[in-house]
Amino acid sequence: MSERFPPGFVWGVATSAYQIEGAVAEGGRGPSIWDTFSHTPGAVDNDDTGDEACDHYHRWREDLDIMVDLGIQSYRFSVAWPRVMPDGRTVNQEGLDFYRRLVDGLLERGIRPLMTLYHWDLPQSLDVGDAGGWLSRDVPDRFVDYALVLGKELGDRVRSITTLNEPWCSAYLGYASGEHAPGLTIDALAYRAAHHLNLAHGRAVTALRDVLPAGSDISVALNLHQLEAASERPEDVAAVQHVDLIANRMFLDPMFAGGYSDQLRDTTAGLTDWSFVRPGDEAEIGVALDSIGLNFYNPSRISAHPVATGGMPFPGTHRAFFADIPGPRTVMGWPIVPSGLTDLLVRVHRDVGLPIHVTENGLGAHDVRVDGTVHDEERIVYLRDHLSAIRAAQRQGIDVRGYYVWTLLDNFEWAWGYEKRFGLVHVDFADQQRTLKDSARWYAGVIARHRL
Ligand code: FCB
Repeated sequence: MSERFPPGFVWGVATSAYQIEGAVAEGGRGPSIWDTFSHTPGAVDNDDTGDEACDHYHRWREDLDIMVDLGIQSYRFSVAWPRVMPDGRTVNQEGLDFYRRLVDGLLERGIRPLMTLYHWDLPQSLDVGDAGGWLSRDVPDRFVDYALVLGKELGDRVRSITTLNEPWCSAYLGYASGEHAPGLTIDALAYRAAHHLNLAHGRAVTALRDVLPAGSDISVALNLHQLEAASERPEDVAAVQHVDLIANRMFLDPMFAGGYSDQLRDTTAGLTDWSFVRPGDEAEIGVALDSIGLNFYNPSRISAHPVATGGMPFPGTHRAFFADIPGPRTVMGWPIVPSGLTDLLVRVHRDVGLPIHVTENGLGAHDVRVDGTVHDEERIVYLRDHLSAIRAAQRQGIDVRGYYVWTLLDNFEWAWGYEKRFGLVHVDFADQQRTLKDSARWYAGVIARHRL
């Protein structure tokens, strides 16, 4: 039989507001950049939107009860900024009340909340055309105001707060590749956006420290890229280092190593002069955290030569290309390589040194419900192998404290709409019926045994 997980290891599930809540025009919620983007024809597969999503805004009690049935110990959810501040500035009590009820509902059920403040749904009135979006130095301060509202309102009940989810996606997919809201395609802007996201993070952490009770855990959730070279040739190894600067060290260096490196500035010099970094910014970004969240789905193999088709959403990476990783893939086309998670945990432990939570990991598939059940063996294998990869890291002494399956419910999967299903629980989007998949039952068993 497999080993037990360490005592206190936390079993969770993760979701995000725009992907599940629906009710976009209820309770005083204002529009977000994702409402605008998803309503732009052609932006999302099938022109799907989050208008209804999983209707979690109305069905949250049922969804929390499902978590209880599965034995879930912690729930990572995100707050919709435009629900709490519809214009990005003014507090909407009704929106705050929704999250207060949700948090109280979790605590009543013995489930620990992990609250993400920003999972990509910027209030529309703060966007590029309105107030500058993440290109503006003012938006980080609006984020601080918003963080303080939540810290004061819920900090007594929510002991774990994550500032940003995957700022890489907000910056590079939102401003350079155009795959995410607000859909811009200007490479240089991604660096400015990324810096202002970093600044928003740092300033919010400092502000939250003043209002949160002692012992609160403040973190950020990063989708760091686990990179491997296509060969041992020096040019492939150099290509990996180049991508690592842009994809990873753009966030890690100011948050944990004192500032942006000269190598990063040099490698992007043709795109940006970095004039958006002002004296003192890096010190503000580098404020101490209590833990780090890692979202992991797959590693990437990098070559100096264009060996694979498809672009790279890393602006400035014209010297590096994706190479194929042979072996199984998910329907997203993402290679399945659990050992990549062990490697990433080792790297983050070395470079960051904080306790780690794996805040997202899961598998997208075209799950079909047949006779009231969903047989998703592929997801069970994926989750099991990634949990084994965590155990492998723990055996090396790495402090991994928890695991959050992405995700509880099939949901609005951003630019992929509703076709790709990641849930432990199947959602019928015609009538909102929830059906446990085999993987949900399997995960409940793992939690109960505290071992695979
Ligand atoms: C991550 C996102 C999450 C979900 C998964 C599949 O990048 O944080 O919202 O879309 O990918």
